[in-house]
Amino acid sequence: MRTVEQLDSLRATLDGWQGRRGRVGLVPTMGNLHAGHLRLIRVLRDHCDRTVVSIFVNPTQFGPGEDFQSYPRTLDADLEALERESCDLVWLPDVETMYPLAESFRIQPPDRLTQKLCGLDRPGHFNGVASVVLRLFNQVSPDVAIFGEKDFQQLLIIRQMVKDLALPIEIQALPTVRESDGLAMSSRNQYLTAAERAIAPLLHQTLIELAEKLSAEHSWEDSRQLAWDQLEEAGFQPQYLEWLSAESLGPPQPGRPQRLLVAARLGKARLIDNVGLV
Ligand code: PAF
Repeated sequence: MRTVEQLDSLRATLDGWQGRRGRVGLVPTMGNLHAGHLRLIRVLRDHCDRTVVSIFVNPTQFGPGEDFQSYPRTLDADLEALERESCDLVWLPDVETMYPLAESFRIQPPDRLTQKLCGLDRPGHFNGVASVVLRLFNQVSPDVAIFGEKDFQQLLIIRQMVKDLALPIEIQALPTVRESDGLAMSSRNQYLTAAERAIAPLLHQTLIELAEKLSAEHSWEDSRQLAWDQLEEAGFQPQYLEWLSAESLGPPQPGRPQRLLVAARLGKARLIDNVGLV
């Protein structure tokens, strides 16, 4: 496994693969790797010959007062895990490499995709995500990249960016990887106290129950209100609970893929989750 910190070394390694490089796959991450990330790597391996994992805690996707400074950084453990996964290359740019200009160019995804869900609670977040993912795509030139469905809005925005900018990159999606009690795996789960961790799976259970009610044709408004109240009673501060089209994030369309999406604060953690409906 090669670990590369400079753009010219990255390019030299990628060039060295040329001719016999086969398909290059990229897993973009912010590090603090957990079993969900490792599953992304394993699944991607079926779609490519060489695996590149990037680790970069991207400052432009954190808002003022968010956890950029305290975001868990565990590089040594991450590198050990990637070595065990037989990752070919780890790309470790610093902020100057990623954003060489003091006033950097930014990608602005369409409001239709950002002015809802996490985009309302985290203004500018998806501008930062799209800007860094486009940079990673330009630096690594992957044939395929993979993202988790836990960050469903991010996944849709990246798919739209690839389509709109005609990037020759296949985007693969991995269903959310969960703990045995249903909690979606996330680096931010470690902000939970033991008591909060015990109630955190209620977020996923709430989505499952709502999905069952919708398929039994219960009223969405009533079911949503009940679910919201239950979350609040358990100690969550819900931020959104929405039922949307899984294709456009617009209103759900009968017979088309749909999604239930939730975000809630629990103590110091902001948790998100979503489940699919047909
Ligand atoms: O999902 C993440 O970890 C980040 O948003 C990503 C895609 C690596 C961009 O910084």
